[in-house]
Amino acid sequence: MKILITGSNGLTGQAILQETNSADSPTEIIACSKSPNRFVGKHKFELLDLRYPEKLNYLLDVYQPEAIINTAAISQIDECEKNKITCHQINYEAVLNLIQSCTERNIHLTHISTDFVFDGNQQVPYAEPLASESFQE
Ligand SMILES: NC(=O)c1ccc[n+]([C@@H]2O[C@H](COP(=O)([O-])OP(=O)(O)OC[C@H]3O[C@@H](n4cnc5c(N)ncnc54)[C@H](OP(=O)(O)O)[C@@H]3O)[C@@H](O)[C@H]2O)c1
Repeated sequence: MKILITGSNGLTGQAILQETNSADSPTEIIACSKSPNRFVGKHKFELLDLRYPEKLNYLLDVYQPEAIINTAAISQIDECEKNKITCHQINYEAVLNLIQSCTERNIHLTHISTDFVFDGNQQVPYAEPLASESFQE
């Protein structure tokens, strides 16, 4: 199986790369992140800033992965509070772009969220807040 990992330099991304790094792993990984590669291993690496969907779509057309695991995020709550526009671009708009690109290409998307948003205390399924409700400058 061919899987593209976004945010591969982060804590979650690095754990996935480590888990799939053995020579006999059947999984082919295309690791992508905004900054230069921080993992030494067998995986291919591509620079990918998710604020630019044309690069995402280019990589999807070149590599044709069957699945994407999106671990890219502005994950620090304080940083989100200070940089609301960047947070909105990565944690919201980039996810919308991923959904659209995956839908168009029939790619399975796994998105990892956080219990700061989904605290597990409500019955599923969660209703998604409207963008206008969730984002105020
Ligand atoms: N770690 C946990 O224990 C935990 C627990 C629950 C949920 N989660 C969720 O899992 C997800 C990942 O968490 P994490 O702890 O792995 O985060 P992290 O260590 O902060 O890594 C996030 C990665 O996102 C990348 N990124 C930031 N902006 C980007 C952009 N514009 N385009 C592409 N990549 C970008 C960064 O890449 P560069 O470094 O290359 O710039 C960074 O390495 C988050 O949604 C988080 O809420 C994590």
